[in-house]
Amino acid sequence: MDTLVIKGGKRLKGTVEIGGAKNAALPIMAAALLAPGEHRIGNVPHLRDISTMGRLLANLGAGFHLESNTALLDCSKVKNYAAPYELVSTMRASVLVLGPLLARLGKAKVSLPGGCAIGARPINLHLMGFEKMGASITLESGYIFVKAKKLRGAQINFDIPTVTGTENIMMAAALAEGKTVIENAAREPEVVDLADALKSMGARIIGAGESVIEIDGVSRLRPLRHEVIPDRIETGTFMAAAGITGGEVTIKRCNLQHLDSVINKLKDTGMKIRPLKTGVKVTGPKRPASVNAKTMPYPGFPTDMQAQLMAMMCVAEGTSVISESIFENRFMHVAELRRMGADIIIEGGMATVRGVRKLKGAPLMATDLRASASLIVAALAAEGESTIHRIYHLDRGYERIEEKLRKLGADVRRGKE
Ligand code: EPZ
Repeated sequence: MDTLVIKGGKRLKGTVEIGGAKNAALPIMAAALLAPGEHRIGNVPHLRDISTMGRLLANLGAGFHLESNTALLDCSKVKNYAAPYELVSTMRASVLVLGPLLARLGKAKVSLPGGCAIGARPINLHLMGFEKMGASITLESGYIFVKAKKLRGAQINFDIPTVTGTENIMMAAALAEGKTVIENAAREPEVVDLADALKSMGARIIGAGESVIEIDGVSRLRPLRHEVIPDRIETGTFMAAAGITGGEVTIKRCNLQHLDSVINKLKDTGMKIRPLKTGVKVTGPKRPASVNAKTMPYPGFPTDMQAQLMAMMCVAEGTSVISESIFENRFMHVAELRRMGADIIIEGGMATVRGVRKLKGAPLMATDLRASASLIVAALAAEGESTIHRIYHLDRGYERIEEKLRKLGADVRRGKE
């Protein structure tokens, strides 16, 4: 298995380009199932999760290939309605085919996704929404089987603003009979991007990005044409890398409007963040100031940036309190950061981080996508060499990260176990 070997201490300098958002591309690829014909999705990143979704769609009968960063999907012959365990178990986002398959074929069978490193991550709210729209749901040997002769529009209220739950219901409702109203909908930019892609297919959606979304079902949709938004978490990750190394980095092809809460937090650490016509120029302080943060649904501070901010706070001046309110077990990076000399105490969903002067490089273990990113951020500033193992977690969500970091002057190379 691959490792990343990083020799810390270099201040990052130069320019980096951000790729398309993984968490927008995945639901938009699934949305292609809603209509026969040739779909074109631009600015799709080359990531393990994208190829997994491509394999899953091909398994369902779609034609899929990636030409440079454009995904071409032909969904004329989608007949198979089952998503197998071996694919779903490697990528939870596979549940995103439930809504489109139900709407297109009237049935769907998806292996119930197991938990993952960061939490149990049930899909009860997705299923509640489908039931309200007239679907029947059975659980057979670990598979969820959902079917409905014809989906009807419904009033659906989510206890929690679930991102993929909102996306699943929006896709199912696009072809349902009548109007669906989603209350307490997720407001993430990736939800808005999916709504824009669905509108390019002829779907009738208003309110995406707000807490109430209305979808008027139509009888058929046309192939989608859409360009995926930039990845706000990749952008935030490079900001944190510049911040912890006291570097000066120009980040291109990013969308700052999606990062208000992250930018405000990083400014509080002493970072300079100067918008440019083509992106943003970020400058790290000599030593970050400590800040407190609590992860919240969008537009709050994103849980997907919690680990990267924590890495920065490990060497901050002062003590930070970082609370994780979205997932029950998203502190897997803490044990690894402690091995580098970080001073972190966890009580329930709250981590108290006392800044130390310097972290020390060490052999480290990646456990999930964003934890891996936080270990990179920490290793870039640590004294000496770090070797990060199991970086297949990283390859799920970051395209060519070691090349991008090397171009910024980091001493990083991909090694073998
Ligand atoms: C999406 O996951 C993202 N994944 C996650 O990014 C992200 O961390 C998360 O949203 C929160 O922003 C994709 O978009 C593919 P949720 P999702 O449903 O939709 C609970 C990454 O790093 N919940 O918004 O699975 C759930 O347990 C990944 O790219 C229920 O209880 O997250 C969690 O505590 C990691 N029942 C909370 O809601 C449900 O039916 C938020 O989950 C659904 C969710």
